[in-house]
Amino acid sequence: MAKTYKIAVLPGDGTGGEVVTEGMKVLNAAAAKFGFKLDSREFDFGGDYYLKTGEVLPESAVSDLRQFDAIYLGAIGHPDVKPGILEKGILLRLRFELDQYINLRPVKLYPGVETPLKDKGPEQIDYVVVRENSGGIYTGTGGLSMKGTPHEVAVQSMVYNRFQVERCLRYAFDYAVRRGKKAQGKGKENTLGLVGKTNVLTYVFDLWERAFHEIGQADYADVRRDYYHVDAACMWMVKNPEWFDVLVTSNMFGDIITDLGAITQGGMGIAAGGNINPEGVSMFEPIGGSAPKYTGMGIINPLAAIAAGAMMLDTLGEHKAALAVENAVMHVTANKLKSLAAGKMGYSTSEVGDLTASAL
Ligand code: IPM
Ligand code: MN
Repeated sequence: MAKTYKIAVLPGDGTGGEVVTEGMKVLNAAAAKFGFKLDSREFDFGGDYYLKTGEVLPESAVSDLRQFDAIYLGAIGHPDVKPGILEKGILLRLRFELDQYINLRPVKLYPGVETPLKDKGPEQIDYVVVRENSGGIYTGTGGLSMKGTPHEVAVQSMVYNRFQVERCLRYAFDYAVRRGKKAQGKGKENTLGLVGKTNVLTYVFDLWERAFHEIGQADYADVRRDYYHVDAACMWMVKNPEWFDVLVTSNMFGDIITDLGAITQGGMGIAAGGNINPEGVSMFEPIGGSAPKYTGMGIINPLAAIAAGAMMLDTLGEHKAALAVENAVMHVTANKLKSLAAGKMGYSTSEVGDLTASAL
């Protein structure tokens, strides 16, 4: 019997539904071709659900989602809901409660895609950021006191323990090894760069740096270790992206540098990410937002969602199918689309889904 994966589909807000529809179209085509099945069930969490019910997620949401092999998310963010409520109540809550401690964000310029970086092409822009996804300043303690007075104090602290740092670093080292095997012969494989701020955040990044070298030396002797301060990393991501193979960093720094990375690979129409719990339920998403102004027009680019779907297949263990989907996306960017921008692709959202599925 064909292997069946249970997928929870969360279209979310805005154009999220349009892009996951195309994503599922392509993933189902891949499933048919490679001999497995996707058994998907949709959940209507998002801004409309919140406005209707007054709750961001129903009681049972997290335990329901735990029953799936993976979660496929469209977008979170609604123009009538105050910023922060849905992001924290859905996206961050799921990341934390499902312990998706890795945020994997490939920065890869696909053929035919324009980059704002001068004289750089697909050969130069091809690396992966491993962002710690459940700790740091995102979950560190904090609070306000004397709110509204001239003496008001706000605290939000960056907190990491060795366990969080170590499991993230180990994932990144393992990923560098896996990627190196795939890329054999290209010259820059097997390098892991730690992105930190050891010159100022001398406690938190001291912990990261020591753990990085201890683990690297003990268990990953074949992986070269580099270190970059986060501010300098931003410069090199623009000037010399070809230096990078795999980067690993904290939650907040990873959030910031992956938006920079995303724009160098063509922007939100193409950038995909995976919130990964290697031992549990992972969640895959295009990293662009819900794009309310384009909602329902059939002009949003679904390729980021499709690429996120490819990452989902890879994490499920369907490596061949994942590669085939990514190749199909590259075929479409190289040969079909005029632009990645909404409304300028030369095709509608569903036509881009069709083109990708037939390229498979
Ligand atoms: C991201 C987003 C989220 C984050 C927001 C929406 C909470 O920016 O996935 O990068 O900060 O992690
Ligand atoms: Mn972000």
